[in-house]
Amino acid sequence: MSFAELLNVHGRLNELFLLHQEALLRRDLELAAERLWIYERELRAHMQAEEELLMPVYKRAGKIAGGPPAFFIGERRRVLGFLARFAAMLGELEGESGDPARRVIRLFDEEAMFKSLCDHHDMRERNIFFPALDRVTDEAERQDLIGRCFAANSQLE
Ligand SMILES: [Fe+2]
Ligand SMILES: [Fe+2]
Repeated sequence: MSFAELLNVHGRLNELFLLHQEALLRRDLELAAERLWIYERELRAHMQAEEELLMPVYKRAGKIAGGPPAFFIGERRRVLGFLARFAAMLGELEGESGDPARRVIRLFDEEAMFKSLCDHHDMRERNIFFPALDRVTDEAERQDLIGRCFAANSQLE
């Protein structure tokens, strides 16, 4: 077993975000907001599992080029900043009269930046975080940690 299994959670998160974007594209703002909220809840659960369960174990690996814990924490902060902005922009859109097309485009532009940040973060975990975790754990600990990470998200379903 490898921590790379957790890439399945990333795949599911990407899918949830796309569902939000589909609703936004159809200008169903209420549904877009609801789906964004569901996405955020899942993302936070995943981040919390990574931070509380995996980060302490990751630190065993010592200094790793391109992967100091501060990088992951910084990315997390930027991710949460984006989400707060999206919720605010959606709230403004819902209260607007007139044609919201341009504002919807602006939101999509911001969301494109967010998606590239997520891709970047995903790559860092795939190339650095998960392989390091594989190195510093034995099979039993790996299974336990991976199972608990999956459970953090499946509890929400
Ligand atoms: Fe992750
Ligand atoms: Fe992460």
